[in-house]
Amino acid sequence: MTPPPSPSAVLRLGDVSALRGRVRDWRRAGETVALVPTMGALHEGHLALVRHAQERCRRVIVSIFVNPTQFGPNEDFSRYPRVLEDDIALLAEVGADAAYLPDVATMYPPGFATTVTVAGLTEGLCGPVRPGHFAGVATVVTKLLLQALPDLALFGEKDFQQLQVIRRAARDLDVPVAIEGVPTVREADGLALSSRNRYLSTEERHAAPTIHAVLQRVAAAVRGGAATAPALAEGRAALEAAGFGPVQYLSVADAESLAPLERVEGPARVLVAAYLGRTRLIDNVAV
Ligand code: PAF
Repeated sequence: MTPPPSPSAVLRLGDVSALRGRVRDWRRAGETVALVPTMGALHEGHLALVRHAQERCRRVIVSIFVNPTQFGPNEDFSRYPRVLEDDIALLAEVGADAAYLPDVATMYPPGFATTVTVAGLTEGLCGPVRPGHFAGVATVVTKLLLQALPDLALFGEKDFQQLQVIRRAARDLDVPVAIEGVPTVREADGLALSSRNRYLSTEERHAAPTIHAVLQRVAAAVRGGAATAPALAEGRAALEAAGFGPVQYLSVADAESLAPLERVEGPARVLVAAYLGRTRLIDNVAV
């Protein structure tokens, strides 16, 4: 019997010049490069991004950086899970080529004064309840893309608004990197994988799949062009009955502009953000 392949070593790149040198050498050898930006605490959802990246490019770099500027003052920056050696072991198993591990001083050196803000797309959904969040995301992702200059960068559709914001910023700033969204990976009961699921108590974990069930019900109800308001009211009530609260938003939105829709006439998305105990969960499905 052939033994299973042993995990490959993952190259650790700590600063911009190491990253650029490695990408330049791969390019000179005629190899394409993909970047998967993450904040670590990797799970199957991230590994799916790596596998997609491996299908599209010869080399895959995963960045791990818990970005302080995308967390609000009362959010979970300090308790966000940091499990670097576990992450590297998972990357080795899946065969990623390199991990880019910048520190805060590399990403935000003294005197740092530039912010990327994306108007319009950030005005609804998570925007009002997480002021500054998308500016933090757009800024760090723009930097990561410009530091690595990969051919392709991949992001999960679970953070659908984030994906659209990144697409817009890359397009508007002529960043020469293709942006690809990858479908959400779910547990068997429908719960979208998230690094924050580990905060859930046993009881909360039991209630958590309701969020996906509600999204699917709303999507099915509005698919034929029925008014969205009654389906959204019913969905909100179902979430509250299952123990979610506050429900920050449950919305049917245009898949491109993210503008709220009263009726679905083209590509649309149902999106939700709600607390379950102290844990904020977000999710979305296509209509
Ligand atoms: O989705 C994430 O993990 C983060 O928001 C990202 C894109 C890595 C930026 O910090």
